[in-house]
Amino acid sequence: MNAERLLELDALHVWHPCTQMKDHEELPPVPIERGEGVYLVDCSGKRYIDGISSWWVNLLGHNHPRLNQALARQAGRIAHHIFANFTHEPAVRLSAGLAAVTPGRLSRVFFTDNGSSAVEAALKMSFQYWQQSGLPEKTRFLSVTGSYHGETLGALSVGGCDLYRRIYQPILLKGYQASGPDCYRCDEGMRRVDCNAECFRHLESIVEKHHCAIAAVILEPMVQCAAGMRIYSPVYLRKLRSLCDRYQIHYIADEIAVAFGRTGKMFANEHAGVAPDILCLSKGITGGYMPLAVVVTGEEIYRAFYDDYVTLKAFLHSHSYSGNPLAAALAVEVLEIFREEEIIPRLGPRISRLASYRERFESLPCVGEYRHLGMIGAIELVARRETKEGFAWEERAGYRVFRRALERGALLRPLGNVIYFLPPLTISTAQLDELANIAFESIRDVLG
Ligand SMILES: Cc1ncc(COP(=O)(O)O)c(C=O)c1O
Repeated sequence: MNAERLLELDALHVWHPCTQMKDHEELPPVPIERGEGVYLVDCSGKRYIDGISSWWVNLLGHNHPRLNQALARQAGRIAHHIFANFTHEPAVRLSAGLAAVTPGRLSRVFFTDNGSSAVEAALKMSFQYWQQSGLPEKTRFLSVTGSYHGETLGALSVGGCDLYRRIYQPILLKGYQASGPDCYRCDEGMRRVDCNAECFRHLESIVEKHHCAIAAVILEPMVQCAAGMRIYSPVYLRKLRSLCDRYQIHYIADEIAVAFGRTGKMFANEHAGVAPDILCLSKGITGGYMPLAVVVTGEEIYRAFYDDYVTLKAFLHSHSYSGNPLAAALAVEVLEIFREEEIIPRLGPRISRLASYRERFESLPCVGEYRHLGMIGAIELVARRETKEGFAWEERAGYRVFRRALERGALLRPLGNVIYFLPPLTISTAQLDELANIAFESIRDVLG
């Protein structure tokens, strides 16, 4: 199909995610034909550096030979079968592989098929655990402002990004929300590099008051991604771990976006040296090839569900595509690539390169801060640097930079006023420079 016809049919029949479809009247979607490493290639042959790993999923580059082979190998055996009463080697190998590397050696892996559904399963698992463990009054969840855990109703209920949840408020679960860490605009007047997570007191005071009713705290460790790559101190996580221990509350770590090397470590919790009770993983787990998510927990939670059938303690949560063999085979291959090709130990030069852009971006008057952790770099655009006041959302400053960057050959879909880099881990330092140059020029073109 030629590109013109493709876009004609797209305009007639397709409803794209997280998009005001009317925007396509001015800027139609880019028709992608293939991928090559860190590049997306459109129907006319134009190349775009995938600066955001296609919504943070692509981990090792597009069209990866080993992942292509793993997929074909598994497709030649079986693409999918029911995962209740049946099992298969890729799921077993993946579960054992994850058990060997997760913080705290969490040993039980429950399969779902996207990030939001993993969050739903994690919340239900925590709730049901307390119902079956003598503390049935623990029915609420505590989350923080700026958090993002997905778009299904349970996940939205524990989300803290107003933009996505405001209209649905009347149909969301009731819970507790604490003011979350926002280091750029810290209301304690501290700096993320040497603070003692003073802002943790907001969460702590809610827990002290309501711990009897709280089943779990859910948090994105180290970086609140959707809120604009808000990077915060690991001290926050250490304080959270000890608070949860003190009050019999689960810590659900949503590492859907940040696991698998994004923060420079396999799991973001490693920065703080803590282990969650329940860990949600997705996105990069299959290298960005297939939808897959897992909820990983330890024996204690698992055992609360393990009993004779008639006690009705089983976790009756399922998805048709639970444990999909194609996705699991890809995830097994991703773990092998990480081990054999030493992906994380070799990130060093790329991490340093991302860190080195700070001075250059902060030389622009419209940049309030360039922040960075591991393989994530973020540029906070501001209307006034002294007051840290952002551009009014109606100005769509980030979106205008995105459009300019597309023309220049980079995918840099913004988060409001934040332009960020979250590229495949395999990007070279030269490609990082290309990406940073495009971002710099585009910001300068649009905002001066
Ligand atoms: C931290 C986090 N949790 C959950 C989700 C939801 O995942 P999905 O989009 O696969 O439902 C996302 C997606 O961006 C995320 O970043």
